[in-house]
Amino acid sequence: MGDSPSDVSRETVRAPDPAVAALVFAPDRLPGLERYAALLATDGVVRGLIGPREVPRLWDRHLLNCGLLSPLIAAGAAVVDLGSGAGLPGMVLAIARPDLRVTLVEPMARRVSFLEEVCAELGLVTVEVVRARAESLAAERRFDVVTARALAPLSRLLGWAWPLVAEDGVLLAMKGSSAAAEISSARPDLRRLRARAEVVTCSVPGSSVTTVVRVVGGRTAGIG
Ligand SMILES: C[S@@+](CC[C@H](N)C(=O)[O-])C[C@H]1O[C@@H](n2cnc3c(N)ncnc32)[C@H](O)[C@@H]1O
Repeated sequence: MGDSPSDVSRETVRAPDPAVAALVFAPDRLPGLERYAALLATDGVVRGLIGPREVPRLWDRHLLNCGLLSPLIAAGAAVVDLGSGAGLPGMVLAIARPDLRVTLVEPMARRVSFLEEVCAELGLVTVEVVRARAESLAAERRFDVVTARALAPLSRLLGWAWPLVAEDGVLLAMKGSSAAAEISSARPDLRRLRARAEVVTCSVPGSSVTTVVRVVGGRTAGIG
């Protein structure tokens, strides 16, 4: 990153193209997302959770990018976001989709504090923040949807995430151009877990593309 938090005053949030934002988010969710973007651009930068250079591109590269996951998630789903960091994608989904129950999992105390403060500030009652490593939750919890962005290569992520996926659930791993190669590398893990992975690209006119590796289990994929 190489940015210093003291650069914070020089950068301002660039508002999204309203036509693009309207294709990704319901209009009544935008004020909450704008407040979240403002918190990321101020506290988030000062506390070193996000680089100052990310501020002008918060909407394009982060909020819209994460919001594009939403159509892949069924109404009322229980979602866990592993390695949530400053809340990406989990906080965006929680603000955009009040029908979801969202658990944000993050081991670092100062990131957990920020996530709790965002929940308090926005009055989010559908969000649970858990300070933990992903691999420590497996014995206790199952979720309809597990999300992760920039956490680990797919083969390692499967080891942490798959035990948390409910029987008919799905893992949505946000990946860039490496998505297909990561699926190839994870073939032995997928076979062992009787799971099937595919690359799904999500976009709306005028937005950049979000590339997701979608992993489902044998029953959902029609295996065996
Ligand atoms: C590169 S950041 C990505 C943060 C966020 N998902 C994003 O896209 O901006 C990776 C995050 O995963 C967290 N992390 C690292 N190891 C983890 C683990 N074993 N389980 C859960 N989170 C972990 C780190 O503390 C960090 O916040």
